Order: sequence, then structure tokens, then C-alpha cells
Amino acid sequence: MYDVIVIGSGPGGYVAAIRSAQLGMKTALIEKYATLGGTCLNVGCIPSKALLDSSEHFHNATHTFEKHGIEVENPKVNLKQMMERKDEVISQTCDGVKFLMDKNKIDVIHGIGTFLDSNTIEVLSDEKKKTKIEGKNIIIATGSKPNYFPGMEPDKKRIITSTEALKMKEIPGKLLVIGAGVIGLELGSVYKRLGSQVEVIEFAKQILPTMDISIGKDFAKILKKDGFKFHMEHRVQSVKNNGKKVLVKALNKKGVEVEIEGDYCLVAVGRKPFTEGLNLKGAGVDANDRGQIIVNENLQTNVPNIYAIGDVVRGAMLAHKAEEEGVYVAEFISGQKPHINHNLIPGVVYTWPEIAAVGKTEQELIEDNVEFKSGSFPIRALGRARASMDINGMIKILADKTTDEILGVHMIAPRAADLIMEAVTAMEYRASAEDLARICHPHPTYTEAIKEAALSATENRPLHI
Ligand code: FAD
Ligand code: NAI
Repeated sequence: MYDVIVIGSGPGGYVAAIRSAQLGMKTALIEKYATLGGTCLNVGCIPSKALLDSSEHFHNATHTFEKHGIEVENPKVNLKQMMERKDEVISQTCDGVKFLMDKNKIDVIHGIGTFLDSNTIEVLSDEKKKTKIEGKNIIIATGSKPNYFPGMEPDKKRIITSTEALKMKEIPGKLLVIGAGVIGLELGSVYKRLGSQVEVIEFAKQILPTMDISIGKDFAKILKKDGFKFHMEHRVQSVKNNGKKVLVKALNKKGVEVEIEGDYCLVAVGRKPFTEGLNLKGAGVDANDRGQIIVNENLQTNVPNIYAIGDVVRGAMLAHKAEEEGVYVAEFISGQKPHINHNLIPGVVYTWPEIAAVGKTEQELIEDNVEFKSGSFPIRALGRARASMDINGMIKILADKTTDEILGVHMIAPRAADLIMEAVTAMEYRASAEDLARICHPHPTYTEAIKEAALSATENRPLHI
């Protein structure tokens, strides 16, 4: 009898297993694939960032080196080598998780986990071997998979999802992307930098539609300058692979049908929770009509000894959110009183410049009738930005009009993925914009834009503009 059985070894599952073992609970982890780490390590965060970094080096070699006074003759992409390096990064990272499981004495069982009842899981291995294990507590961390709508079913050849886009054998001449969300812009950026023409077809009015309105507007300008083409407010009707090309048919905002042809089409319209094979009914666990397992504020399902975390439950589909929930559940099971502030889970888009945000957007504050003030500062006004030739972007701080508490921070900036943590820390301690404005920031750094945006939000008193 295990104290805790975790199903799924993504960032939610493997972290839940480590924390459970740290707290002295006998723990098993079930994973259907041969490697640990889930979507994030195998076909998500890690491979996409490896290709984003490689392609950014190539972009710099072809676009900025000369201005820096570095002459490199005719740089070329070796896609096979780029993919091999990415694969090495994946396997080193997955091996790291295996090491952590061994170190924490967690039993890892490979195979598809299926509920027989609320305490018993049967694991079916690739070799069709069945193992039955029992647990006092079970944590479902089975993640998500790519979503698509009727007419855009991926054939995984030319109509592809992010998984295939991370393993391309050729650089597309022209890549069509359906969805100007996180995957569309990150993987679109990879192939744009490697030389593809990239055309994005998006249903909403602006790119990254769930982020602060200023992000979508400003970032679209930057991407257009880089050569991205956008078809906004287009409703995709069908995508066809005719062997050598793909043809997307979409209705534009006037209802007129347009045809867009390319070599590949990346379908990036969101992800959906993955529960196939689990036999939720066998355990009596409820899911909603979107396929998400229903959980209460303690991530507990309607069956009290079964918990669910990460992409398979409500909330942002992010690795760090899944990790926080993994720790929460392990601590809750062991009798502690943990805490997660879901409002302060930062979101990052790893384009260049990067985009990062935490807290409320301007649209949300307006909708909630919260009176707020806003201060922003352009990256180009920083000495650090001119030194590195990364002048695009801005940082915007939204603060409560009366109390000055910071309510949201939104940025397009070099290294925004790292910069955002200053805002998260400040907001976790409920700092005011004035608090941030009075902290000494090192010069020259991109962090100075946070101080300046805070100065601008308090009494409109930025120093360097
Ligand atoms: P997953 O990582 O999906 O893991 C679930 C695991 O459960 C899988 O290994 C699966 O095989 C296993 N499983 C499922 N069913 C069973 C079963 N019945 N039996 C046994 N095993 C089972 N997030 C970020 O925060 N930052 C990023 O930069 C980022 N980049 C991304 C890039 C891409 C291209 C994609 C697709 C996603 C990205 N994400 C990123 C999202 C991130 O990958 C997910 O939010 C995260 O992996 C969710 O973790 P999880 O533990 O809930 O599930
Ligand atoms: P997304 O939700 O970010 O973006 C989907 C986009 O597709 C939206 O802009 C939406 O308006 C558009 N869309 C939806 N239906 C459409 C249609 N019929 N026609 C045209 N456009 C349509 O989803 P995405 O990019 O697929 O990513 C999935 C998840 O993976 C995200 O929720 C994200 O959290 C996670 N992820 C996170 C990353 C990160 O943290 N850096 C990187 C990649 C993925």
C-alpha cells in the first residue's frame, strides 16, 4: 500500500512525487512513456526553448553581428545538428528527473495507469504486462494534448501540431500558423529566424488576446517589422494537405472566404486536458464538459482521496503552475496547510524580445470596476538597451488608484522572463508602486525600466524620459 500514487510524470506529477517522498510518504510514479518529464521536458518548454535559443543565435549572426563589428562569412543553418542539440538537452533533462526519482526512493512504473477503483491502479506496460498497485492517496497529473477544431485536424505530415514542429526535417519555405497565441508566436519565431515566411491566421482582433491589450498591440508591430504577416479576425474553415502544399480556407471579418497557401500549417489553437485511458468512471471522479477534472480549492476531486493538478484541471496551462500544485497537494495530504496565489502565476512568451506578465490586465480591471493608474516606460530609453542593441519593448505597471498597490505588471523586454520575478516578489508582499520606485536598481540594467515604470505610475515622475 503506497501513501501516494502519482499518475503522470510531467512537472506537476514528478514534483508532487518528490515533495511526497520528502515528507516521508511511500510514493509511486506512473508514466506511460519511456522517459520522464511529460509534455514540458519532452515536447514542450524545454525543446521549444532550445530551438528558440539556437534560432536566435542564427538571427543575430545574420542580422546584428555586422553592426557590432563582427564579420562572419555566410552563416548557414545545419538543421540536423540544431535538432540533435535540442534532443541532447531533452535527454539530459529527462535523465535528471530519473536521477531525482532514484534519489528520493520513488518507485517509477512505466505503463498506462487505469483506475480499477478509488484506491487501485492497474498499469499496462508496452510489453502488455499488468501491474496492480494500491494507494491511500492518488494524484492525477496526466496533463494535456493539442486541441483542434473541425476542419483543421492535424495529419502530422504537413498539418502539424507543436510536437511535429519541434522535430522538423526541413525549414518550411512558408509556414502557416493557426493561432497567434503562445505556441504560434514562439514556434513561428523559430522558423521565421531560420528563414521561413511566416503567416499567422488568428480568430481574435489582436495577437496574444488573453494578455494585456498593450502587449498585443505593441508586439504585433515588432513582429511585423521582423517580417511576420498576420491575418487577424479570420475564422478558419478548412485546412487541406494536397501532398506538397497546404491550403487554408478562412472567412475574413467581412465574411468573405480567403485562401492562404503554404508548405506546412501549424495548428496552435490551444490544448485540452488529457484523461484517456484513466477510466475516471471506475474511480467515480467527475470531469466537466471541457474535459477538465473538477477539483475544489485543495485540488481534491469529488472522491476525497483522489487529487488532480496541472493542465488536467482549471487554470493556466503552465509548468510552474503544475509544480506549485504538485507541492500543494503533497503538503495537504501530509496534513500541512499550504497556499498558492493563482493570481500571481507569471506568464511568459519566449519570443525576442520576451513577453512577461503577472496579475491583472487593464481589461480585467476595467471589467471588475477597479479604479487604477498606469505607468509605463519604453525599453529604448535605457542605456543598457542601446548597449546591447535591444531597444524594442516597454514595461507597464498598473496600480490601485487609492492605495497604490501593484495590481498587474506587463512587459515586452529583453530578458522579461527573468525581469518579471521582481514584480511577482513585490506583488506577493503586496508592495505599492511607490515601494518599487524607491528601491535602488543596478545601472545599467533592464530592471531600471521597472523602477521608471513604477515612478511613472506613482506621480508620473520618471527620471530618464
Ligand atoms: P504534462 O507535462 O502534460 O505531463 C503529463 C504526463 O502524464 C505525460 O508524460 C503523459 O505521458 C502522462 N500520462 C497521461 N496519461 C497517463 C496514464 N493514464 N498513465 C500514465 N501516464 C500518463 N509551460 C511553461 O510554463 N513554460 C513554457 O515555456 C512552456 N512551453 C511549452 C511549449 C510547448 C510547445 C508546449 C506544448 C507546452 C509548453 N508549456 C510551457 C506548457 C507545459 O508544457 C505544461 O503546462 C506542463 O507540461 C503541464 O504539466 P503537467 O504535469 O500537468 O502535465
Ligand atoms: P493559446 O491559448 O495560447 O493560443 C491559441 C490562439 O488560437 C488564441 O490566440 C486564439 O484566439 C486562437 N484561436 C483559437 N481558435 C482559433 C481558430 N478557429 N482560428 C484561428 N485562431 C484561433 O494556445 P497555444 O498557443 O496552442 O498554447 C497552448 C497552451 O500551452 C497555452 O495555454 C500555454 O499556456 C501553453 N504554452 C506555454 C508556453 C509558455 O509558457 N511560454 C509556450 C507554449 C505553450
